[in-house]
Amino acid sequence: MVDTVMTVDTITKTFRVGTQDVQVLKGISFTVEKGDFMVIFGASGSGKSTLLHTLLGLEMPTSGNIHLLEKNMYDGLNDDDRSEFRKKHIGMVYQQPNWIKALKVIENVTFPLLLLGTDKNESFERGLKLLDSLGMVKWAHYYPTELSSGQQQKIALARALVTNPDVIIADEPTGNLDFTSGEELMQLLKDINQQGKTVIMVTHDLEYIRFAKDAIQIRDGQIIAKYADKEIAQLLKSIDSKRGDGDVPSEKNKKKEK
Ligand SMILES: Nc1ncnc2c1ncn2[C@@H]1O[C@H](COP(=O)(O)OP(=O)(O)OP(=O)(O)O)[C@@H](O)[C@H]1O
Ligand SMILES: [Mg+2]
Repeated sequence: MVDTVMTVDTITKTFRVGTQDVQVLKGISFTVEKGDFMVIFGASGSGKSTLLHTLLGLEMPTSGNIHLLEKNMYDGLNDDDRSEFRKKHIGMVYQQPNWIKALKVIENVTFPLLLLGTDKNESFERGLKLLDSLGMVKWAHYYPTELSSGQQQKIALARALVTNPDVIIADEPTGNLDFTSGEELMQLLKDINQQGKTVIMVTHDLEYIRFAKDAIQIRDGQIIAKYADKEIAQLLKSIDSKRGDGDVPSEKNKKKEK
């Protein structure tokens, strides 16, 4: 059994913009263990999405290595191999779900299974069971665009989970949601993590480190702090005390003020 799901070793990424090289990731290293709930947080533009794209096998790092389930993602694999590997082992949730608009919820949710060659009846059975476990089965025969943003993100989570991947990778999954829908989605992510699924989530919202087992703070393409268990509790305390000074406005209070 593999206990380390992902090893990220000294990743750098440089983009060429016009005539200039811009280094967006500056030597990032961490490991993700099976069952982890890792939250990667940092300000807008700090390199979070670029980092996730390298983890997903979508963006080749300029240097460094990424191993997913002990396989080196960028050594000996071509784009098609990476895509196959991703389909089998990673479930993705983005800020905005990308639907096949002509397909109903259940058809969208089971689409990744069909791509892997599972037959339609079995796919539907699995899809319905999963929607049921997320409290969304009554929407199975609607079109995703008929649902609210919060409901759509739950459906997107179902689609990410349907292949029973080893890890769920989410980029700002609550970014478009109101506070309550965001909390509901986070609670679902917490539930699936408690059932044993590894989760890696990127956010610029400090609120969500409450859900983390491990957290990484990045700034300007570098890890500036790593937090585990106790340190997360301390960080949360320090955020709360700053809130008392009016330094860091709470999401909840912000919403109430509106
Ligand atoms: N393909 C690209 N070419 C050039 N520069 C890029 C490219 N992709 C990202 N960048 C730059 O890299 C930096 C980090 O971008 P990235 O999207 O990773 O940040 P982020 O932390 O995800 O921000 P946000 O919270 O706004 O989503 C930005 O300055 C961005 O302009
Ligand atoms: Mg981003």
